[in-house]
This record gives sequence, C-alpha cells and structure tokens, in this order.
Amino acid sequence: MAQKILVVDDEKLIRWTLEQHLVKEGYEVVTADSAERGLQLIAEEAPDLVLLDNRLPEMSGLELLDKLNIQERGLMVIMITAYGLVETAVKAMKLGAYDYISKPFNLEEITFVIRKALEAGSLRRQVKQLRGRVDTIIGETEQMERVKGLIIKIAKSDATTVLIQGESGTGKELVAKAVHYTSTRADKPFMAINCAALPVTLLETELMGHEKGAFTDAKAAKKGLFELADGGTLFLDEIGDMDLSMQAKLLRVLEEKSFRRVGGVKDIKVDVRVISATNQDLGTAMSEGKFRKDLYYRLQVVPIMLPPLRERGSDVLLLARHYMDHFNKECHKSVRGLTPEAEQILLAYQWPGNVRELKNVIERAMIFEVEDEILPEHLPQELTEVRTSPALQQDAAISLDCLTIPEGGISIEDVEHALVKKALETAKGNQTRAAQLLKMPRDAFRRRMKRFGLA
Ligand SMILES: Nc1ncnc2c1ncn2[C@@H]1O[C@H](COP(=O)(O)OP(=O)(O)OP(=O)(O)O)[C@@H](O)[C@H]1O
Ligand SMILES: [Mg+2]
Repeated sequence: MAQKILVVDDEKLIRWTLEQHLVKEGYEVVTADSAERGLQLIAEEAPDLVLLDNRLPEMSGLELLDKLNIQERGLMVIMITAYGLVETAVKAMKLGAYDYISKPFNLEEITFVIRKALEAGSLRRQVKQLRGRVDTIIGETEQMERVKGLIIKIAKSDATTVLIQGESGTGKELVAKAVHYTSTRADKPFMAINCAALPVTLLETELMGHEKGAFTDAKAAKKGLFELADGGTLFLDEIGDMDLSMQAKLLRVLEEKSFRRVGGVKDIKVDVRVISATNQDLGTAMSEGKFRKDLYYRLQVVPIMLPPLRERGSDVLLLARHYMDHFNKECHKSVRGLTPEAEQILLAYQWPGNVRELKNVIERAMIFEVEDEILPEHLPQELTEVRTSPALQQDAAISLDCLTIPEGGISIEDVEHALVKKALETAKGNQTRAAQLLKMPRDAFRRRMKRFGLA
C-alpha cells in the first residue's frame, strides 16, 4: 500500500508542484491550504507523514504542531521554514517534528528527507509494537526488567534456543509467547506441548509425526509439531519430565535441524526455534542422571530465570492492581483498590502458586467484594492464617462453626460483634473469662461490649 503524505501550504503553486512530484514517486498525496484544514485531514486521512509550511494564514505551522500529539500518534512531520529562520526550525524539532527543510528547496532534497522520515517512522512503530508485547509482562523489579530486556534481545536473534526456569505459575508460558510474538517469527505458528503429559511413544509421534503404517493405528501419515511449527516456535513445556530416550532424539533434531517421521526414511529439514521450560531443578536432575548434560547445554543457549513472586517485592501490588483492573472490566465492577491492611497481607504471603495464585485470589476477592475496597476478610484464610489463627486454633475454646458468612460477605465489625457475644455466652456472662477467651485485656473487651450494645 502506498504511504500517504499530507502537504500543508497556502501557496497553490507549491502544493501543486509537491503533489505532482510525490505522486510520481509513488506516494498517495492529500493537500491542505491552511492549518485548520490540515488538522482536519490528519484526523480523517491518517497520513504517515506531513509536510508542513510554517507561514500559514491564521494558525501557523508551529501552532499546529503544538496542537498535535506527535509522539502518541507516531506521526512524522517535516517542517518547511523560510530561509534563515533557524529559530523556527529548532522550535519545530522541540515540538517533535522529525526534520526541517528551508525554502527554497529542491525536489530531490525533499524526496530524500521524506524517505528517511518514513523509514524512521516505521522503525518507531515496530519498536512500539515490540514494547507493547513485552508490556503484557507486569513487573518493575530489577530482575523482571532484566527478563524483559532479554526477551527483546532474543526476539532479534532469530533462532536462539531458550530455556525458561521458574516455579509453577511464575509466567514461563507467558514469557515463551512474548519471545515468539516479538520475534520475526510472529506470523508463523507458536506450537506448545507438555512433555510430562504424554507417554514417551506418543510424545515422539506428536513431535516427529509418523508415516502411514508406522504402527497398527497409523492409517494415514501425520505431521508432527516440528513440521507444523516450521518457521515459528516450538514450546516444550515441562522438559524436565522428558524421558531419557526422547531426550536423545530431541538432541539429534536440535543438532541436525532435521529429523525423520516415525516409520519414515526421509530426512525432513525444519527451521524452528525451540523454547523449553521447567519448574524442576535441572542441575539436580543432571547429577542424578535423569537429564542429559549435552541436551541441557543445547537448550539453554539463553537461560531465563523467573524469580518466585515472593522475591519480587512490590510487584505483588502491581500485579494485584493489574488483575483488579482486569476483573473490573470483565465483571463490570468498580473496586478501587486494596486497604493498606490487605496490601500488607499480600506482601507478607509466600505465594507458593506464584502469579497464578495471586490472580485467583484477586478474582475471588472481587466476587466476594461488597464495598469498593478489598479488605483483609475478602482474602482467603490461608493468606492470613500465619498471622491470626494459630492462637485461635491452639486452644479453640470457641468454635467458629456457628458463624455463617452470608452470601454478600460480612464485615470484620460484624464478626467481632458475634465473637464478643459468643464469648460472653460461653463464659456465662463472666466478663473476665470472656475477655480471656478472646485473648484481650478486660477493658478492651468492655469497650467492645459497650460499642456493640452488650454492656
Ligand atoms: N509477570 C506477569 N505479568 C502478568 N501476568 C503474569 C505474569 N506472570 C504470570 N502471569 C499470569 O499468571 C498465569 C500463570 O502464568 P504461566 O502459565 O505463564 O505460568 P507457568 O510458569 O507456565 O506455570 P506452570 O509451571 O504451572 O505451567 C497466567 O495467567 C499468566 O498470564
Ligand atoms: Mg506453564
């Protein structure tokens, strides 16, 4: 598709000359005789580039530039200034113009500057797109920034093998996809397979495919994932669980970049980037002889270590915020945030299930939610258990079975009220005993009795 150029100039002759020339050069051209008209055409025609004269009736070129949010639109502007007006040129560049040309200009010069600007524009868009993909990975800690930087680097090196290690739920698949979709392979297939889920013979035919008659059920030939992912990326999930004989076969494919279908005699060449992932410690697996060293080194040309969520500090809150926005949209809710107490709980928790667990916790809290903030009591018990319940569990003189939580949830205040009442009942009205049962000083207990109208 031809790229579109908007020429904004009040001199008819200049508009006409530029239009004739640029159309001949293969561009699509629209023209405007004033800044106002220019603004309108920028909105309607979405040009890739604007040639903008500064001296215009009413609104000047610089004023127009000021009105446009060039960065955001990714619009390339070349300013045309009167000869010697360096100041105008400098102002234009400050406002985000790509370059300037002074009058009188020759057409060759214009063509050259336009070509350069359009190239730079498409590069800028590409980088923005890359960033956009990587931005699906939430995290600002140094380790996560390093991971994001690595992804962009890997995306540029076409076929490098990547090994992603990290606990369950740390985002290994997310990272694998980010690598694929930021790379030049993005428009080719991303195929994934879980190596732990299949018995070894099946895994082999899934990966390599088979010829007709290779085994009893092979009524027709079938392509394997290596063939299907040709030109793209193959994601081998839970590689640590791959059987040793399959490991040997995989190593051969990686080294020779070709393989044979099961039952086949023909070597099939493929161009596939292999990304593998595991939540196992491959070091231990190697020392126990369960994982081949040579395969390990072949797979981890670029290793990516995803830290567990508990080591990512305030990223926990960033992710929580992200998922609140997500579920607000999805479920038409308007939860504003977490109370400081709830934040503290999320920050203190160990997150054995990592980001996946956090996502579930937020989703659950938002289904629960009655107010516009997430309170500690909207969070699952296991998150707070460490902090509050040992005392309750050890000598649970009070059984909490009688407390039913209504569907819409319940406030801590109501729970306290019920507990104070229950303690009084259990202690048969003896306030000192009741206060002991709730492990609180007698006067604190008395204050609550008053507050709840029980005194
Ligand atoms: N940094 C992150 N930013 C946003 N979402 C994330 C991030 N990390 C993980 N997620 C989300 O958490 C969930 C789990 O991630 P993913 O499936 O990639 O983890 P995994 O490491 O492959 O887990 P497993 O080992 O259990 O297969 C997904 O919904 C993913 O989108
Ligand atoms: Mg996974």
